[in-house]
Amino acid sequence: MNNLKKELINGKGYAILPIDDLENFKILCNEFIKKISPYTKTKNFSDIRQEMTEMSKSQINELMVSLLSFNDASEVLINSCKNIVKSLSGDEIFLQRRANTIFNIPGQDQRRQWPHYELMSGVSPFTYILWAPFHDLDENDGVFYLDLNKSHEMIKSEQSTGIVNGPMILNKNYDEKPAKLKFGEVIVFCPFVLHGNINFNSNLARIACSVRFQSIHQPLLQKDTDYFKFHKI
Ligand SMILES: [Fe+2]
Repeated sequence: MNNLKKELINGKGYAILPIDDLENFKILCNEFIKKISPYTKTKNFSDIRQEMTEMSKSQINELMVSLLSFNDASEVLINSCKNIVKSLSGDEIFLQRRANTIFNIPGQDQRRQWPHYELMSGVSPFTYILWAPFHDLDENDGVFYLDLNKSHEMIKSEQSTGIVNGPMILNKNYDEKPAKLKFGEVIVFCPFVLHGNINFNSNLARIACSVRFQSIHQPLLQKDTDYFKFHKI
């Protein structure tokens, strides 16, 4: 088993790596700016992030809806990380049909993801997840990942009380150091790693893109049959 796979299955559960093809990833970022340009005054990325902090929740929703036309984002992200994907799942994969582009706005009372592990939403246990920010992450950007041991400990200790995916996982005040990623890096993780967003204070919104994939040679234990499509790297 290669080292990365070992790290994801038996080690920390996640790894931060340089994106294989940064030029390709920049295409994704530029395409994103183009898609949302009808809703923003500027095309400069930092300014867009600043503009977003002043948008209403319905404006943010509009932006998200506009990205539904971003049909090839999953291929572009996967093709930016070909070596990583191949070393984990080979060159024939089930690829999430639609990559997620995620905006997070600083401050209280903002949309944020509950702490979760991917399996909770019916994602196949053989899936890996790529998550890449469109900019450097600041010290207090509020994204956290628990290593695999800690994740298992929490999941098991809640289970021993007769509850699965209850308040211990969802409501715990996570005091984890945010993952520090630079633009050009990607975090890849397995579906048992607890992660999420905590409230964060910044002058800028956080924007990232994520996609899920698994080898076609592993059992596909996916809840939603329309979630993946076949993809050859
Ligand atoms: Fe997630």
